[in-house]
Amino acid sequence: MNRLLDMALSRIVVVCAVAIAIQLVLIFSSSSSYPGFLENQPSSSRLPAPSNGKLQEVEKLGEGVVKQPEDVAVDKNGVVYTVTRDGSVMKMHRNGTWENWWHIDSTGLLGITTTQTAHLIICDAFQGLLKVGEEGVKLLTSHIDGAKIRFADDVIGSSDDTFYFSDASTKFDFSSWQLDLLETEPHGRVLKYNSSSNTTSLVLDGLAFANGVALSSDQDYLVVCETWKYRCLKHWLEGDKKGQTEIFIDKLPGRPDNINLAPDGSFWIALLESAPMWPKMVYNLPGLKYITGAFPKFYSKYVTNVVEQAMVVNVGSDGKMLRGFDDPTGNVMKFVTSVVEFEGHLYFGSLYNDFVGKLSLAD
Ligand SMILES: *[C@@H]1O[C@H](CO)[C@@H](O)[C@H](O)[C@H]1NC(C)=O
Ligand SMILES: *[C@@H]1O[C@H](CO)[C@@H](O)[C@H](O)[C@H]1NC(C)=O
Ligand SMILES: *[C@@H]1O[C@H](CO)[C@@H](O)[C@H](O)[C@H]1NC(C)=O
Repeated sequence: MNRLLDMALSRIVVVCAVAIAIQLVLIFSSSSSYPGFLENQPSSSRLPAPSNGKLQEVEKLGEGVVKQPEDVAVDKNGVVYTVTRDGSVMKMHRNGTWENWWHIDSTGLLGITTTQTAHLIICDAFQGLLKVGEEGVKLLTSHIDGAKIRFADDVIGSSDDTFYFSDASTKFDFSSWQLDLLETEPHGRVLKYNSSSNTTSLVLDGLAFANGVALSSDQDYLVVCETWKYRCLKHWLEGDKKGQTEIFIDKLPGRPDNINLAPDGSFWIALLESAPMWPKMVYNLPGLKYITGAFPKFYSKYVTNVVEQAMVVNVGSDGKMLRGFDDPTGNVMKFVTSVVEFEGHLYFGSLYNDFVGKLSLAD
């Protein structure tokens, strides 16, 4: 009996020793390969955050029915669309009634956009790009050059039915996005799906979490938000600078999520803020980073807590911040991930709230 116990104990000791040795090798062999992007943007050097509590005045649409609607879209007839954590594709008619349009077996439905042909294009973080219409749900693309698209995040369509969409990370998927923040290597990119040729190609890569995408009103450039870097980039699609990329706005007061074109040619951007202390410390101590990475559940629960607040800003086509709204305590809305303007109102999506927020811009 004792000998059996001894053998079991020594086996445990050996396994632990090997595990610790592997950890140490990992820690010391790669400690120099991590740049700390977070260090580039201390809060003091950022643009001022809005502070007016206006997001506490939102009207709640579909409360309790729409579960964590990450993105919202409104078509030209004023029908509001959203997709939820439990896979519902929902629309709210002008008379205020919600219709459960389709169900998709996925917990990863994120960015959406409407088309002129009354279809909805959806980023399913796990499957790729989907097209939804009265006839049903169809997969448009899931691969690029034979490789799986890991993390389809947000999409925008041009008038010639080309869809630009972000692949937030080529390394981590939606269920472990926090690890991408921990690593902060630029694994993100923008892809384009051409409906007429049914092909998917690369537009731009090397992005530190490629998130919201929007087209300018003339569709001559694309704006993509680089969440981990507190900035959005402008990528020219037409004209003299075609193919070139420049900074659209940086030093944002929070990490940019989805972005949408407003009727006047400006853009609305939803901003997130994560509790900064632990990640900062983790950055300076690569060993700690590895250990943290070994416990992703703990990390996502306690370390990357999104601060309990909400913030959105309006940025002109010249890249200047014009105005913003917030909920400083998150009492009404928090983790707001998208904002869309339609007929003098803003509509808000959130990965926390179980409703779509609506706010009049008139007062
Ligand atoms: C609201 O509008 C939709 C779409 O036009 C229609 O199907 C529905 O019956 C309407 N509901 C009410 C209560 O009027
Ligand atoms: C889409 O593909 C068609 C057919 O190959 C091509 O003519 C068109 O220029 C492509 N559009 C874009 C935006 O790349
Ligand atoms: C588009 O291409 C994919 C694979 O490249 C194929 O599976 C799919 O059937 C094609 N769709 C259409 C509409 O041709």
